[in-house]
Amino acid sequence: MKEQIEALRSTALEEVAKTSDLRALEDARVKYLGRKGKITEILRGLSQVSPEERPVLGQAANKVRDAISDAIDARKEVLDAEAEQQKAASEAVDLTLPGRRPRKGHMHVINQVTDDILEIFFELGFQVAAGPDVETEYYNFESLNIPADHPARDSHDTFFVKPGVVLRTHTSPVQMRVMEKTQPPVAVVVPGRVYRVDYDASHSPMFNQVEGLLVDEGVTFADLKGTLMMFVHRFFGKDTQVRFRPSFFPFTEPSAEVDISCTVCQGKGCRVCKNSGWLEILGCGMVNPKVYEYAGYDTEKYTGYAFGLGVDRIAMLRHAISSIGHLYENDMRFVEQF
Ligand code: DAH
Repeated sequence: MKEQIEALRSTALEEVAKTSDLRALEDARVKYLGRKGKITEILRGLSQVSPEERPVLGQAANKVRDAISDAIDARKEVLDAEAEQQKAASEAVDLTLPGRRPRKGHMHVINQVTDDILEIFFELGFQVAAGPDVETEYYNFESLNIPADHPARDSHDTFFVKPGVVLRTHTSPVQMRVMEKTQPPVAVVVPGRVYRVDYDASHSPMFNQVEGLLVDEGVTFADLKGTLMMFVHRFFGKDTQVRFRPSFFPFTEPSAEVDISCTVCQGKGCRVCKNSGWLEILGCGMVNPKVYEYAGYDTEKYTGYAFGLGVDRIAMLRHAISSIGHLYENDMRFVEQF
């Protein structure tokens, strides 16, 4: 039995020394020192041994138990230190790695174009004005000389919020809101979102306009023409041809639409201008005296002009964008190009 105890010591110590992690070490502890372990088994077996041999063997077994226990403690220290080191290595920060840059935002192309348009009018002394997107029928139609039964209402494909309240179909209602609050001279530009029930490659249910209004004594169509020509030459370049085409709007008389020579083919004819060589960019005219009556302006004393620019159209022409939908889908591959 003595030999058996000694043999146990050497196998146990060898096994402990070979453990490669804390888990294996714990298994070894259970195997030798646990309640059903080999040493425990021997100590229990001592009751079978003769009383003379018992103290000698007991002492030997206890010694071996202590030796194994010490070996386990020592091994545990080593493995603990190793585990600690491994953890530190895996969590280490590599300061030489390049950083991750935060993505930088920038102005949307529509806002860039809007700002560029406004800037030109600011230089001429126009001020900026604004009005609500949710607008009354009175401001959107009636005060602009578009009565309820007027066919021009049909062409606006209006979104109704509730009876008498609409999403504005153009920025023109802000003309009336400004005139109600200010006496001439008035010179304002009004950027804003407008809404119509319409959706295809060149129509979006929400799009953008810049409205212009100038009222003073002695304003003529020549002033309107000069201002818009100057705008076109500044914005599209001085070689751009400008054409005023007679048109109709209830709130202006006379009215015109302005075309510019096609920015893609320089007027030769292409797909963008549908072979006409011309592109329409705005509507305009001399403010109809009926509108001044709604505003409470002296129709004998004042004259003025107004215009409405399609911002989306202009952005599409400037950047050769094929579908208006691109402007609003927020696909980063598109947005990041501007
Ligand atoms: N409001 C018109 C539209 O959206 C555009 C327009 C035409 C505005 C003539 C004007 C104007 O101020 O004088 O179709």
